[in-house]
Amino acid sequence: MLWYTSDALVRLSCGDGTSRGVVKLNHIYKQYAQGRTIVTALHDVCLEVGPGEFCALMGPSGCGKSTLLNVIGGLDHQTAGTVALDGRSTDDFSDADWTTLRRECIGLVFQAFHLLPGLSAAENVALPLLLSGHSGGRAGRLVAECLDAVGMRERERHRPGELSGGEQQRVAIARALVPRPKLLLADDPTGNLDSRQGAEVIALLRSLPRRFGATVIVATHSREAAQQADIVHGLRDGCLESGAGSATL
Ligand SMILES: Nc1ncnc2c1ncn2[C@@H]1O[C@H](COP(=O)(O)OP(=O)(O)OP(=O)(O)O)[C@@H](O)[C@H]1O
Ligand SMILES: [Mg+2]
Repeated sequence: MLWYTSDALVRLSCGDGTSRGVVKLNHIYKQYAQGRTIVTALHDVCLEVGPGEFCALMGPSGCGKSTLLNVIGGLDHQTAGTVALDGRSTDDFSDADWTTLRRECIGLVFQAFHLLPGLSAAENVALPLLLSGHSGGRAGRLVAECLDAVGMRERERHRPGELSGGEQQRVAIARALVPRPKLLLADDPTGNLDSRQGAEVIALLRSLPRRFGATVIVATHSREAAQQADIVHGLRDGCLESGAGSATL
């Protein structure tokens, strides 16, 4: 299959510290047809995110933040333009290629956590490993490591309904970390949290480049995220206002 033979994708999963952008967007447009109306969600977006960066996307509701993350992660596809990951164009990726890439190389974190309510915290974190065919002692150790990393080991037997919102989001981050992704995309990860829990989640995400070598892109309304980001990109009406300093947002 494509990425077992592709150096770029092997690097993406292993992280060799390449100096090229982990994500490079070239003139991305995204349009949705709504009856006779065309909604332009992204307009000529060019963006490069380097290895180990903690990058925040900010802007008002409807400006295109989720659309941009979805295009980067292959959950949605651009109308025009090119997405390159680790120096390799994704133009020829099939849906199956994207699915494998997300399972092995790209961690996703959402506002609504998306944990399975019938599974314990540890079972939720183990799920990506099971889907990739990994089980047994090594999988158990990886799950324990990731739960430790987010400070949730003591709650590993709890189901999502027995956890606070912030704890659920930390479990969701552990689940995203378990394949050791090179790239982690977080869409409004603090949107359902109070300010204290939100700040804890942002601090956790902020620590991931240093602790796991991951590149992190967060779409957010959170000032904490903006203050802690290496770079803040503002979005307005689908247009990127590149490299705005946090002080200006
Ligand atoms: N499936 C769709 N069909 C039509 N229009 C869409 C679709 N998804 C998003 N849009 C439109 O695209 C624009 C960008 O939406 P998007 O969800 O990316 O915004 P956002 O910045 O993530 O907003 P929020 O902060 O509220 O999450 C909006 O105007 C939205 O109405
Ligand atoms: Mg959104």
